[in-house]
Amino acid sequence: MLAQVFNELKRSIGSPRHRKTSQRPGRSFADGDFAAIQGKLGLRSQTFHHILHYLETLSPPYYIVETGTARAPGYWQEEGNSTLIWDRFVQFWGGRVCSVDINPTHVAIAQQHVSAQTRVVCSDSIAFLAGLADVEKAHLLYLDSYDLDQANPHPSALHHLMELTSVFARLAPGTLVAVDDCAGEDVGKHIYVSRYFESIGITPLFRGYQTGWVIPAR
Ligand SMILES: C[S@@+](CC[C@H](N)C(=O)[O-])C[C@H]1O[C@@H](n2cnc3c(N)ncnc32)[C@H](O)[C@@H]1O
Repeated sequence: MLAQVFNELKRSIGSPRHRKTSQRPGRSFADGDFAAIQGKLGLRSQTFHHILHYLETLSPPYYIVETGTARAPGYWQEEGNSTLIWDRFVQFWGGRVCSVDINPTHVAIAQQHVSAQTRVVCSDSIAFLAGLADVEKAHLLYLDSYDLDQANPHPSALHHLMELTSVFARLAPGTLVAVDDCAGEDVGKHIYVSRYFESIGITPLFRGYQTGWVIPAR
């Protein structure tokens, strides 16, 4: 646990958004309200907690950018319902969520389950991210769009690499990039994103069914 906290602090050095200890209030969504959801999240339970815990080392108000919106509210274990979790997180701390999805039906479903702090946009994610003017303000970039076919993960993995490359140069130090559906080392939405981060010397903050990396000081 101590090593984990130390690593998070070390990774955030250089991020002006990292909280000073004296600013940290004695409350937490990750260790508080999230508990009511966490038990339903199956394989993603620990990694969602890790994402929220990391965000709480940064200063609110939070800005979360997501590709692939929650299309099946209620199916926490199967889908994750990330949009609903981010929405509850920014309702707790202050902030906003921007979620993009190419399917108008999924956009309409998600919109019915989130607060006014979450904007759900219908677009191809790569084109949308490339034109997203304020992405440098994001605390979290969560990539979970093009569905994974475990028998042929490459189209999905390439799409997620292109999502990352469309914004990578504009991400601020301290931003957490997390990818869902990491089914195995060579099977998942993450496989090319993982190789890219590895090739530039950035090791994951956490690995599991979701994997996360922190953008270092440049
Ligand atoms: C796995 S679901 C997202 C699940 C959601 N993040 C959650 O935790 O419940 C994937 C979503 O990506 C969307 N999608 C697929 N291709 C896309 C693309 N090129 N651009 C944007 N969204 C896309 C699908 O319509 C689908 O709603």
